[in-house]
Amino acid sequence: MKRLSCNMNNGINAGSQICYAISLLTLFILIAQTSVAKGTMLESADCGKCHAVQLKIITQDGGKHATEVGCLDCHPQHPPVGTETKTPCISCHDGEPHFEIGNCRHCHTNPHQPISSLRDPLKPARKECLSCHFEVGQQMEAVPSRHAKIFCNRCHSQHKEIPSCLDCHEPHSSRQRAEDCSKCHPAHQPLKIEPTGYIPATLCRPCHGFESNALAESNTSHGGINCINCHKGRHPSVPTCQDCHGLPHTQSIHSQFRDCLECHGDAHQLISNQ
Ligand code: HEC
Ligand code: HEC
Ligand code: HEC
Ligand code: HEC
Ligand code: HEC
Ligand code: HEC
Ligand code: HEC
Ligand code: HEC
Ligand code: HEC
Ligand code: HEC
Ligand code: HEC
Ligand code: HEC
Repeated sequence: MKRLSCNMNNGINAGSQICYAISLLTLFILIAQTSVAKGTMLESADCGKCHAVQLKIITQDGGKHATEVGCLDCHPQHPPVGTETKTPCISCHDGEPHFEIGNCRHCHTNPHQPISSLRDPLKPARKECLSCHFEVGQQMEAVPSRHAKIFCNRCHSQHKEIPSCLDCHEPHSSRQRAEDCSKCHPAHQPLKIEPTGYIPATLCRPCHGFESNALAESNTSHGGINCINCHKGRHPSVPTCQDCHGLPHTQSIHSQFRDCLECHGDAHQLISNQ
């Protein structure tokens, strides 16, 4: 009795204990009468008279639970007469992987506000997320890394929130910014280092200072070529000079000198007269 009066006190004045007792009585009579007389129960229109708070919440914030479902669809019976007071989620939601994960209320905390009450799970989540984002799981399987062993919500602490790599890692150099990381490391496949597009040499420099500096100082036409135009595809890839130049000199030179660099020095700092 005490617990119930607290429920009913929501937003109502202090004298509502009496109101409460009366309404419970009225309810009981109403239910008893209608069910005996016609075999029917309360109408949806009746609910708001006593449950104004729930009606308000669901009207304002219920989304499709307000527009496509009625109170009685989820509450087919009413206490104290009936016991089927809450229809389980899965009796209406089935046939999709997301509906097989169970624990609906863990995330959709208030069925009267199924989307806006969405709480990001405090418990580790992976299977739950993958029920919708299955492609992320496929990516992780294709290129295994230790990111696949972290629960999704350790990085995505809110739904749709994108973390910064720098929350958890140091950059390779103090001049690297958070946006740079994904140019080389896809978040879900961080070991698939296969940069495409334009990658400034400054991003390779922290680990390959010699080549980066040599190329920057080179006054040959190699100096104008982006690292990844020669080092294409998956890191680390090494081209041969012939990939681009073929065998430009006479056959006697090439058969005498197998290695172009014997005369041209270094790919990043060519010896060249041009
Ligand atoms: C005359 C007032 C009144 C009307 C009308 C009324 N209720 Fe209730 N309702 C109550 C009271 C009082 C309780 C608390 C009784 C209890 O939990 O045993 C309650 C409890 C409930 C509960 C909680 C049940 C549980 O198992 O905890 C639900 C759900 C509910 N009502 C839904 C409805 C719906 C849906 C309607 C309209 C079809 C409705 N009520 C109409 C007064 C009313
Ligand atoms: C999609 C299903 C669904 C719809 C539609 C729905 N409810 Fe509920 N309602 C629930 C569930 C599930 C609970 C149990 C909540 C809990 O256990 O915390 C609940 C709880 C309640 C309660 C108990 C108090 C509380 O807030 O937990 C009342 C009262 C209630 N609903 C009234 C209504 C009324 C009135 C409507 C229509 C305006 C309605 N409900 C529409 C699913 C629904
Ligand atoms: C009586 C049937 C019924 C029950 C029970 C029910 N739902 Fe629904 N729900 C629907 C319908 C119908 C829709 C709208 C169509 C759709 O999105 O599937 C819907 C939509 C939703 C949506 C999307 C809402 C929006 O505005 O886009 C969520 C989330 C949801 N339900 C979660 C739940 C959860 C969680 C439960 C259990 C607490 C539940 N539902 C119980 C019928 C129900
Ligand atoms: C781990 C958290 C989590 C659990 C558990 C969970 N959901 Fe969801 N649900 C979500 C998220 C996140 C969304 C996407 C919301 C959005 O689109 O913004 C969602 C969306 C939905 C939708 C909207 C329609 C759609 O497919 O996009 C429905 C319906 C739904 N959930 C029903 C359920 C049901 C039923 C259960 C229990 C079987 C359940 N959910 C369990 C997190 C969860
Ligand atoms: C019911 C399906 C559903 C579930 C469950 C779900 N999501 Fe989503 N998620 C969506 C939808 C729908 C979008 C919006 C997609 C869009 O905008 O293209 C989204 C968007 C996202 C985004 C942002 C995408 C972007 O392009 O910015 C992230 C990150 C995300 N979800 C992570 C998660 C994580 C982590 C979980 C588990 C805690 C999860 N989701 C559970 C349906 C779901
Ligand atoms: C190590 C941190 C981390 C983990 C763990 C992680 N993500 Fe992400 N996720 C990110 C980052 C960062 C982005 C943004 C990527 C971008 O913008 O290129 C992202 C993007 C997304 C997106 C939107 C873009 C896309 O690639 O589809 C979805 C959806 C998503 N994550 C879901 C998940 C799911 C589901 C899991 C668990 C299986 C998960 N994430 C695990 C960091 C993480
Ligand atoms: C929530 C923290 C978190 C975020 C955010 C995060 N990581 Fe990680 N990352 C880890 C953990 C934990 C490991 C496992 C290794 C360790 O313990 O240091 C890891 C490992 C890695 C590895 C090595 C993978 C392996 O299997 O050896 C790379 C590369 C990496 N992260 C890059 C990134 C990049 C790039 C981003 C941004 C897109 C990012 N991380 C975002 C936590 C995070
Ligand atoms: C130009 C490409 C490139 C960029 C940009 C880049 N990385 Fe890396 N990163 C690599 C390569 C290559 C390795 C592998 C080195 C090895 O094999 O030891 C690596 C390794 C890692 C590792 C795992 C090794 C370790 O140190 O534990 C982490 C973590 C990492 N990077 C984080 C980041 C973060 C954070 C950023 C953004 C600030 C970033 N990376 C930007 C190319 C890049
Ligand atoms: C985080 C440090 C790191 C970054 C950033 C990095 N690399 Fe590397 N790279 C390494 C390491 C460590 C090796 C040697 C180990 C190996 O073979 O994986 C290597 C090897 C190479 C090799 C092959 C060397 C050989 O002898 O086979 C090439 C070519 C290369 N990197 C090019 C690049 C280019 C181009 C970039 C910029 C797009 C880059 N690297 C960015 C760490 C890095
Ligand atoms: C014009 C093409 C070209 C460009 C541009 C280029 N490289 Fe190279 N790089 C090569 C070739 C060819 C080799 C192999 C040289 C050999 O056979 O010893 C090589 C070798 C390397 C190696 C391995 C060094 C070793 O001693 O084994 C690294 C590391 C490297 N490059 C990094 C870079 C970086 C970083 C950049 C950009 C700053 C870059 N390269 C730009 C063609 C290029
Ligand atoms: C990815 C293609 C590529 C690779 C690999 C490559 N080069 Fe080049 N190289 C070029 C381009 C483009 C030019 C400038 C246009 C031209 O002269 O064809 C050039 C120019 C040159 C020149 C004349 C440049 C000048 O300004 O004096 C020499 C000499 C040369 N390359 C030698 C080499 C040698 C030796 C290697 C192997 C270590 C090599 N190249 C690897 C693309 C490449
Ligand atoms: C015996 C020394 C020697 C060897 C070995 C050698 N070159 Fe040359 N290369 C030269 C000289 C000398 C020139 C002409 C002067 C100049 O243009 O720099 C030249 C010029 C070039 C040029 C620019 C002129 C042109 O024809 O487009 C390219 C490109 C070139 N070499 C590529 C190569 C490649 C690729 C190899 C290996 C397959 C190679 N060289 C082997 C000495 C050599």
